[in-house]
Amino acid sequence: MDSFSTLIRTASQEQHVEAETSTFMSDLLGGRLGVDAYARYTEQLWFVYEALEAGAERLASDPVAGPFVRPELFRLAALERDLEHLRGPGWRATLNALPATRRYADRVRECAERWPGGYVAHHYTRYLGDLSGGQIIRDKAEKTWGFERKGDGVRFYVFEGIANPAAFKRGYRELLDAVNADELERQRIVAECKRAFALNTAVFRALGEEFPLSA
Ligand code: HEM
Repeated sequence: MDSFSTLIRTASQEQHVEAETSTFMSDLLGGRLGVDAYARYTEQLWFVYEALEAGAERLASDPVAGPFVRPELFRLAALERDLEHLRGPGWRATLNALPATRRYADRVRECAERWPGGYVAHHYTRYLGDLSGGQIIRDKAEKTWGFERKGDGVRFYVFEGIANPAAFKRGYRELLDAVNADELERQRIVAECKRAFALNTAVFRALGEEFPLSA
């Protein structure tokens, strides 16, 4: 039987391709969008990580979610530095969530408060993605909009406390395989992971509508 980390990856593979090839992501990675689109996207991430990390401290002692809560993953401070760079010192006053982002963050918060297994699904979907494809986005963003390498504007993608991302991901998959959940709960976690991907894709769709290409 496949390990849980393999199961969760293969179960979300199709949706991963969908997120990766969404119009907004394709345009972003294709260098076809202005820095304002990137800033708007970064703002949306702020709401998601605020929801993920506000509940993290309380979950640190939870038997299911606790092992996943690692301070070296926390992204909110990095996002805030990026937003200050992208939007200026008044970034907080104009920060606002798209309805799709609101739905995503609400679901993350709900899981953080009531269902540790669901929180693990959201945790996996974001942080393992950021450690993987996030690096491709960073590289592209640096080249397209001229951010300093690993500097302000792309700090979200730079995990300063993780020297070896490949090793960290291996360790993370071991945590998934050992997650304190029975078969049924594992199935529910996989289903929540799919939901997490769908929530992400909905945000991309909304961003795509906000930043259509004229060409
Ligand atoms: C253009 C956008 C994206 C690109 C280019 C991309 C690329 C990648 C690549 C190359 C990997 C494999 C890393 C490895 O095997 O170690 C990966 C893994 C992953 N990505 Fe993405 N990705 C993108 C978007 C996303 C999005 C939007 C999400 C979800 C929010 C996501 C979630 C994940 C997850 C959870 C993994 C880990 C899979 C596993 O090994 O269990 N990715 N991504």
